[in-house]
Amino acid sequence: MKELRIVSPATVANVSCGFDVLGFCLDNIGDEMVIRTTDKKGIHITKIEGYDLPFEAEKNVAGVSALAMLEDAQIDHGFEIEIYKKIKPGSGIGSSSASAVGSVFAMNELLGRPYNKTELTNFAMKGEALASQCEHADNIAPAIFGGFTLVKSVAPLDILQLPTPENLYAVILHPQIEIKTAEARAILPKTVPLKDAITQWSNVGSLVHALHTNDYNLLSKSLTDVVVEPYRSRLIPHFNAVRQSALEHGALGVGISGSGPSIFSLCHGNEKAEQVVVALKKLYAETAIPFEIYCSKINTQGIKII
Ligand code: HSE
Repeated sequence: MKELRIVSPATVANVSCGFDVLGFCLDNIGDEMVIRTTDKKGIHITKIEGYDLPFEAEKNVAGVSALAMLEDAQIDHGFEIEIYKKIKPGSGIGSSSASAVGSVFAMNELLGRPYNKTELTNFAMKGEALASQCEHADNIAPAIFGGFTLVKSVAPLDILQLPTPENLYAVILHPQIEIKTAEARAILPKTVPLKDAITQWSNVGSLVHALHTNDYNLLSKSLTDVVVEPYRSRLIPHFNAVRQSALEHGALGVGISGSGPSIFSLCHGNEKAEQVVVALKKLYAETAIPFEIYCSKINTQGIKII
């Protein structure tokens, strides 16, 4: 019997203008999972702590991605999975992706790494689809590859790893309400006016250029979403006040993390990030809504064995 304990990181998808294609990986928020080989065939989830999630593999995000890999791998044994869930489901920081990635990453290690990172992303997307009813990889890719990633295409899957500026920090404000990804997708318009599309792809292009050139000023000017945020921000209490306060306290840009309700602020340096944390804590403490706040360097490694 062989086993591994891993930390599967939280991630921020979309990054304002990059709906369904851009994402980055967080450093100090993640689920722990233990995966071990077992003579009994199949995938067996034996322990779940933290949140109430299904034990049946085919109803559990980590189980579904693991089953997808198992079916492909054609091996004569199975795996047990223990999940120590730290990322709240429905928080907007890639809770389901962390589960989906954790099982397949660890299984791949235990099998001697037969699959590359893109293939792992493909298996994990099957688990993610169970949660959001749509196959997208903008949370999964940064959890597996680390840093910033761009999903060039889903079919066939093509992931680009983007550079991460050295001194970039993220502040995550998580209002303790739940927004289901499937519902946050259902409210989006099916068509986009050409003028908004032009603004959006100009921002995506300049954001990617800013990452490549370490240009914090251009990064700041690119973190704008005119397509999705106007609809989803209505679901997040005090979103505009949070954005205004974070920008006033030095954030480079502010946006909805994934499908919300978490709000991310990107900051140049830890000191600026801590100033934003103080300001947002004060602002949100004045609302009646419980919240968590995290400050994290961008994690360039992605998922880790511990
Ligand atoms: N890109 C996805 C969305 C991320 O915003 O719906 C959430 O899973």
